[in-house]
Amino acid sequence: MNTLSHARIRGTGFYVPERILTNADLEKIVETSDEWITTRTGIKERHIVAKGQAASDLALEAAKAALADAGLAPEDLTHLIVSTVTPDSFTPACSCILQHKLGISGRVAMDMNAACSGFLYGLEQVRAIIALKPESVVLLVGAEVLTSRTNWEDRATCVLFGDGAGAVVVTGSADAADSGRILDTLLYSDGAGADLLMITGGASSEPYAMGHVVGPSHFIRMQGQDVFKLAVRSMESVSREILERNGLSIDDVALLIPHQANNRIIEAVGKKLGLSGERVYVNVDRYGNTSAASVPIALAEARASGRLPAGSLALLTAFGGGFTWGAALVRF
Ligand SMILES: CC(C)(COP(=O)(O)OP(=O)(O)OC[C@H]1O[C@@H](n2cnc3c(N)ncnc32)[C@H](O)[C@@H]1OP(=O)(O)O)[C@@H](O)C(=O)NCCC(=O)NCCS
Repeated sequence: MNTLSHARIRGTGFYVPERILTNADLEKIVETSDEWITTRTGIKERHIVAKGQAASDLALEAAKAALADAGLAPEDLTHLIVSTVTPDSFTPACSCILQHKLGISGRVAMDMNAACSGFLYGLEQVRAIIALKPESVVLLVGAEVLTSRTNWEDRATCVLFGDGAGAVVVTGSADAADSGRILDTLLYSDGAGADLLMITGGASSEPYAMGHVVGPSHFIRMQGQDVFKLAVRSMESVSREILERNGLSIDDVALLIPHQANNRIIEAVGKKLGLSGERVYVNVDRYGNTSAASVPIALAEARASGRLPAGSLALLTAFGGGFTWGAALVRF
């Protein structure tokens, strides 16, 4: 095996748009209250894009931050992957637009859609690229403008989501002691739950026709309670499985970085795994659910704030539409 063929996270970064939408702001839009949102979700505020700001604009800022953290330039990149359910356009891909905005061309650029698990799905792709072409320098971004698909008349969903992007730069690693080594990724999916969390309007199952009026199906629709239970069960089981198959235990985990959908889900997963307090990363209170961006934003924040010192093990886990779910182990 080539000595570089293990993937290593060299740099992390994130970006959220400036504008903040608080629970008090939402009280003016739908019949809700700060108390209800805080108690049921833990969310206090979320960032939302300015008019004209698309997923690639958020991805660009996150990518620049991750490249700077890695000490690399856009020209060093060989591959760009953007995980998103809210790309700038059906075509071209958000990754292609991002490449252009980074001032480069001629790289491999592709988008992935695994909803809130998109970053973890992307990490496995990155590992495969590094294994195949160890000299690769891969940018992986989770970028979402979920508010572009939010139904502001549906109080059960509109209070949950926010916009943002998180990015990592991954290279091959020659030394087992290198910080940021991705030890493993474990992914699952099941289409049987497709209709519990979906956006269909305007896609090929429900195409647009001239003169069509936008309706609820053009926005996120979700059966919250069903998703809640499945999310907890799936993130717990995949986390246990990835630890077990790597000969590790929960005691080895310095920090659990779960998908930031809802603080009750995060607390339940942590409790079932026997992790709490300082060993569980939470920022859902400030950003809401940013889907594919949530894990890389949390990872970048956790690293920047010193929560992942040298030698520490991070356990990443996510669950999202599809359904998709997964986990990853990263040694810093
Ligand atoms: C969405 C979620 C917060 C709703 O919480 P819940 O405890 O399940 O609440 P319910 O859906 O049972 O609704 C309870 C009541 O609150 C009401 N309600 C829903 N949203 C509300 C809001 N924003 N403000 C006030 N009341 C609200 C409902 O209408 C319902 O009223 P009713 O009893 O009179 O019918 C919760 O189900 C959840 O977090 N699910 C997972 C969502 C998620 O994170 N998905 C992404 C995973 S990738």
